[in-house]
Amino acid sequence: ATHKLLLLPGDGIGPEVMAQVEKIVGWFRKRGLGFETETDLVGGSAYDAHGKAISEEAMGRAQAADAVLFGAVGGPKWDGVPYDVRPEAGLLRLRKDLGLFANLRPAICYPALADASSLKREIVEGLDIVIVRELTGGVYFGEPKELVTLENGQQRAVDTQVYTSGEIERIARVAFDLARKRRNKVSSSEKMNVMKTGVLWRQVVSRVGKAEYADVELEHVLADNCAMQLVRNPKQFDVIVTDNLFGDILSDIAAMLTGSLGMLPSASLGMEDPATGRRKALYEPVHGSAPDIAGKGLANPIAMIGSFGMALRYSFGLVEEADRLEKAIANVLASGLRTKDIAAPGTNAVGTKDMGEAIVRELEAQ
Ligand code: NAI
Ligand code: MG
Repeated sequence: ATHKLLLLPGDGIGPEVMAQVEKIVGWFRKRGLGFETETDLVGGSAYDAHGKAISEEAMGRAQAADAVLFGAVGGPKWDGVPYDVRPEAGLLRLRKDLGLFANLRPAICYPALADASSLKREIVEGLDIVIVRELTGGVYFGEPKELVTLENGQQRAVDTQVYTSGEIERIARVAFDLARKRRNKVSSSEKMNVMKTGVLWRQVVSRVGKAEYADVELEHVLADNCAMQLVRNPKQFDVIVTDNLFGDILSDIAAMLTGSLGMLPSASLGMEDPATGRRKALYEPVHGSAPDIAGKGLANPIAMIGSFGMALRYSFGLVEEADRLEKAIANVLASGLRTKDIAAPGTNAVGTKDMGEAIVRELEAQ
């Protein structure tokens, strides 16, 4: 089978970390896997070339790809460009046109880095959970949304949380499908005690679970309790599925269990193509273009490499290869190799390229 990848390195450290992923893709290709890659511009670099944050040609390539790997966009150079062509507009356009409604944020704690967590080693060591956040609905987009001045001189602000059963069903399926490729457990999080959208959320997730995923364990956790459980005993979870607002907060809490921004991958998934069963997908590190370290070869490539690992697992079903890549990362960290962001103060650190090449060597050695 051929797997079509579109690489969009972007700006700042984006191209530096993407170059390491290309080495990993090259290694898997040498081992007989059919990866075809194309590269295009996005963000400020696309603006410089075309006056737009992403060209129509690049959008066409993104639509045709099996997965898009995205580096990062933005930087001070483009702070003054018009709003609708600013670097972030490239990412927003991709999200919208690919219909990416499900955001997956794993929180993985490599044993070698457990002491860098905000929590005690025994609470986070070996942690491996994924938060599935609904990304296109909920209170960030619901109408009415307004801030008005009343006749009595006071101001009044309104945001509206809206979900349809269809929106909840499709995000629930993403979570259940994911759980089947992992430890087979879904925790659904809402506040049905005070919100109608929470009542509907719980009903729909239960119904989808019973009808289509009887083999997957399902539990319901109120969102405030979920936040507490994430810092008390996060290893009880496998996949957490939740709405846009709670997902924003819960995924940031989970991120802090694991240390540096340079370690956090993510995926955004869209609708399933009925013909191929494949979902549109974009994989990207959580971090931005890091202008403060860009061009210095200091960036940690693990978030970007881990994002490719998620593509292996979730877009291409290459579970053994994804496991092998994660093991290679874990072994390199266990050997003591560190980029600056994850090195203890005063200890030695290596650069982006050394970290990328060490991971390739470890893939080879396994
Ligand atoms: P940032 O994530 O780029 O950087 C925050 C801090 O973390 C910096 O000190 C940076 O050096 C460090 N850092 C980030 N990634 C790292 C890595 N891989 N290795 C080592 N250290 C790393 O966020 P910031 O500074 O708020 O934004 C910088 C630019 O990136 C802005 O133009 C912003 O709009 C853009 N941005 C783009 C995103 C995207 O493309 N999805 C997401 C977030 C920000
Ligand atoms: Mg956030």
